[in-house]
Amino acid sequence: MENRPLVILGSNRKNSLTEAITRKALKQKEFDLIDLLDYEIAHYNYDAHYPVGDQFDEVISQVLLYDNLIFATPVYWYSMSGVMKVFFDRLTDLITIQKDTGRQLHGKNAIIIAVGADPEIPEGFEIPFKHTAAYLGINYQGCTYYPTKS
Ligand SMILES: Cc1cc2nc3c(=O)[nH]c(=O)nc-3n(C[C@H](O)[C@H](O)[C@H](O)COP(=O)(O)O)c2cc1C
Repeated sequence: MENRPLVILGSNRKNSLTEAITRKALKQKEFDLIDLLDYEIAHYNYDAHYPVGDQFDEVISQVLLYDNLIFATPVYWYSMSGVMKVFFDRLTDLITIQKDTGRQLHGKNAIIIAVGADPEIPEGFEIPFKHTAAYLGINYQGCTYYPTKS
C-alpha cells in the first residue's frame, strides 16, 4: 500500500486549471496523480458483462493501491465534471459485477478538491461525494473549494 495520497483528476482538458491548482494546493506533500482523461472509460451500461473492455479496471487497480484518495474536479454546471461523473457512474460495477473489488474500497479516506469560477462552491456540490463514499464504505473527509477569480 502506498503512503502517498492518489489524486484522481477529472478535468475535461489537459493542462487544466484544476490540475494546476491541485498541484499548488498539495505543494508540500508527495502525491501520485492519475488523470482520468488518459484512460478510456465507457459510460455505465446496464447490459454490460465483465470484462467491459475499457480501462476502468486499470484505473481501479491503481486506486486500490492507495488508502488516501483526492478527487480533484472542476465545477461544471454546479456539479462535478462529466469525466468525473462517468467514472462515478462506473463505480456501479463494483457493487454489481465486481463486488469483490468493491469491498476493497472499504476503509479508504477521500477528500475533494473543487475548482470553479464562482466565489462560492455551489449549494449541494458535496452531496454526491458524501453519499457515494458512505455507500461504498469510504471515509469522506471533506471538500476544499478553490475559486479561480478570488
Ligand atoms: C462546461 C463548463 C461549465 C462550468 N460551470 C461552472 C459552474 O457551474 N460554476 C463555476 O463556478 N464555474 C463553472 N465553470 C468554470 C470552471 O469551473 C472554471 O473555469 C475552472 O477553473 C475550469 O477548470 P478546468 O481548467 O479544470 O476545466 C464552468 C466551465 C465549463 C467549461
